[in-house]
Amino acid sequence: MDVFASTDGPESDGHEQVVFCQDKQTGLKAIIAIYSTALGPALGGTRFYPYATEAEALHDVLDLSRGMAYKNALAGLDLGGGKAVIWGDPERIKTEPLLRAYGRFVESLNGRYYTACDVGTYVADMDLVARETRFVTGRSVEHGGAGDSSVLTAWGVFQGMRAAAEHTWGAPTLAGRRVGVSGLGKVGKHLTGHLIDDGASVVATDVSERALAWVRQAHPQVDVVADTQALITSDIDVYAPCALGGALDDDTVPALRASVVVGAANNQLAHPGIEKLLADRGVLYAPDYVVNAGGVIQVADEIEGFNFERAKLRATRIFDTTREILRLADAEGVPPAVAADRLAERRMAEVGRLRTIHLR
Ligand SMILES: NC(=O)c1ccc[n+]([C@@H]2O[C@H](COP(=O)([O-])OP(=O)(O)OC[C@H]3O[C@@H](n4cnc5c(N)ncnc54)[C@H](O)[C@@H]3O)[C@@H](O)[C@H]2O)c1
Repeated sequence: MDVFASTDGPESDGHEQVVFCQDKQTGLKAIIAIYSTALGPALGGTRFYPYATEAEALHDVLDLSRGMAYKNALAGLDLGGGKAVIWGDPERIKTEPLLRAYGRFVESLNGRYYTACDVGTYVADMDLVARETRFVTGRSVEHGGAGDSSVLTAWGVFQGMRAAAEHTWGAPTLAGRRVGVSGLGKVGKHLTGHLIDDGASVVATDVSERALAWVRQAHPQVDVVADTQALITSDIDVYAPCALGGALDDDTVPALRASVVVGAANNQLAHPGIEKLLADRGVLYAPDYVVNAGGVIQVADEIEGFNFERAKLRATRIFDTTREILRLADAEGVPPAVAADRLAERRMAEVGRLRTIHLR
């Protein structure tokens, strides 16, 4: 596969650096991709996943690292975008030596890339990685880390939803609205709490009986439906996808009853073009990477020495960013997903350019 060709395109200036790392003894095979350091060191998590092929792993890390550059730019962070994948089944090959070998490769980049948790990696793993490198976030509270990032992810999604509500109905509140939450995991649970506190009525679904038992016990006023199909075709004002990616596709969009979509799940649009389908149906979609940036804001704060209140304040600003994107989308006659990309690219270009002013 030609890495450099695959990163060229009208929408991309290509990645700055892609590093293949191997340690045969531990079985480590990792790829670290740095899309951009225009705004600062690249930050993005490490996905530990049994990809079928190396090409699949490479494709994922290139995509994800580009996404992180846009997410970090719009989160107002002085951080660029990067991501790493470890290729293999974490259940089988994840060991202390493997994670520490990986940590040494992260260290070798000398601060151009900061890592964090992602699918297949956890706080305890980052504590091990941190024994070999300074450039790691998402550590445990005992090690100066921020702990569970879903707390501020949910808070940020709620702020994005408030901005979307203001844009659609004139007031920044979900009071009196009916919100459908698909996925009552770490983020969905916190989000449900914020919505109820705000005066919304919530209808929810999950494939896990445990998650449903939790909601019945913690919030008996929440209506539970059988599956996501039943949720999106029920009488809801807002749809909050909080489970897996690809929630908005050619089948779900035409069936949607909600006029607003704001949720935590990454990569909600199944393919490019769905944002236009949503806009054509009059559905306001707040881009996932804008509203779910609370988690990265939380872990990024560790670099300064974690302070929850400071991080929460930053996550609260997702309200202003979402509002600005929706305004820009209207002004420029484009879907919010396009407006968000433009705003992120503008910040990367304008702020990134300042480094050309020589200091000595
Ligand atoms: N945790 C974070 O800080 C964070 C940050 C940014 C984005 N996200 C994204 O938000 C989403 C949720 O993250 P999380 O940390 O809550 O994950 P999680 O694994 O804790 O929760 C996901 C929930 O979705 C449920 N689910 C899976 N398939 C489903 C289906 N088909 N229908 C309904 N429910 C289904 C699962 O049973 C689970 O309860 C993910 O897409 C994640 O990538 C999370």
